[in-house]
Amino acid sequence: MKIAVLAGDGIGPEVTAQAVIALETVLAGSDKLELVYAPIGGAAVSEGGDPLPEATLETARQADAILFGAAGMPGDESLPYAQRPGASLLRLRQALGLFANYRPALLFPALAQASTLKPEVINGLDMMILRELSSDVYFGEPRGERVLPSGEREGYNTMRYSESEIERIAHCAFQTARQRRKRVCSVDKANVLESMLLWRDVVTRVGTQYPDVALSHLFVDAAAMAMMRRPLDFDVIVTGNLFGDILSDLAAMMTGSIGMLPSASLNQKGKGLYEPVHGSAPDIAGHDLANPIASILSVAMMLRYSFDMAEQAERIERAVSTVLEQGLRTQDIATPGQSSVGTRAMGEAIAQA
Ligand code: NAI
Ligand code: MG
Repeated sequence: MKIAVLAGDGIGPEVTAQAVIALETVLAGSDKLELVYAPIGGAAVSEGGDPLPEATLETARQADAILFGAAGMPGDESLPYAQRPGASLLRLRQALGLFANYRPALLFPALAQASTLKPEVINGLDMMILRELSSDVYFGEPRGERVLPSGEREGYNTMRYSESEIERIAHCAFQTARQRRKRVCSVDKANVLESMLLWRDVVTRVGTQYPDVALSHLFVDAAAMAMMRRPLDFDVIVTGNLFGDILSDLAAMMTGSIGMLPSASLNQKGKGLYEPVHGSAPDIAGHDLANPIASILSVAMMLRYSFDMAEQAERIERAVSTVLEQGLRTQDIATPGQSSVGTRAMGEAIAQA
């Protein structure tokens, strides 16, 4: 198994180092693991000018899976878009055709206090948000700014989805639900948006191929309310790029800290990029303060999705659970008065467990 390690900027390298240790530990005794490091983001800019060098893209293409850290630092906005370190991830996603973004929202019982919701509402939370990543209003054409006859400026974007784009993400959702509690909730805004009317139509049609999975539909505003009120009702949520962006951050806050959240992005061939949901956290970078758990859990997702190694994935997830039960905390998940450990100590404890 060949893994491209693109650690990137800020806390990216710090958390990725701990994820690599977890991977090496759980695969100990296997000589199959091959790690190939390549620069991306600001680190790549300082080496050669391009935040996504061709050589890095090639390394990612050749690998069986990609472990990504974070890209982007303060001041990026002054650069042209394509040269911004933060844009390297978007370019990488597009180049690899990564269209299915899996973001689990899972509450570790030991962290119930860190959630924004009451224990009786949140205990047992385990939902999977599946966000379409390659289309929607983020990429739709035409887009731009124009001057109206009145002389006023107007900005505009186009929300669009094709049948095939909806079909492939719907299949992912139903297949994921089969591995879980067999429920899919599709989130749209079919009452006012044409692209979402098609979305509902196509998801419903694909759903007939999965009679064993229960399909429901919610408008996005109602979905936001339902997720806050009764989060345990949800198993798999499938939605478009824009709504998925927002709802996954909403779900994130139920689990305590952004430092706890892993993600996977897969393409049509099943190739995956695995990364923590958080960014480069320049405010804490270089101080051994970052929580490495999001990156470590991303490795567990990699073992499960890219290598069919569910048992090893569970060993990593159990190890995380164990150290949290023991009371170990990084500063982001410590309650006031609770002592905390650094990135390396947390990583070492998890590897030990
Ligand atoms: P961020 O996720 O980097 O940080 C937000 C807040 O969460 C900060 O207070 C940070 O200290 C904290 N935080 C993040 N990860 C943490 C961890 N593992 N442990 C403890 N605390 C953690 O988002 P922000 O500040 O909006 O962006 C900073 C830079 O990262 C920007 O340049 C942005 O473009 C980039 N970014 C990159 C992403 C990626 O590579 N996937 C995603 C989001 C932002
Ligand atoms: Mg977001």
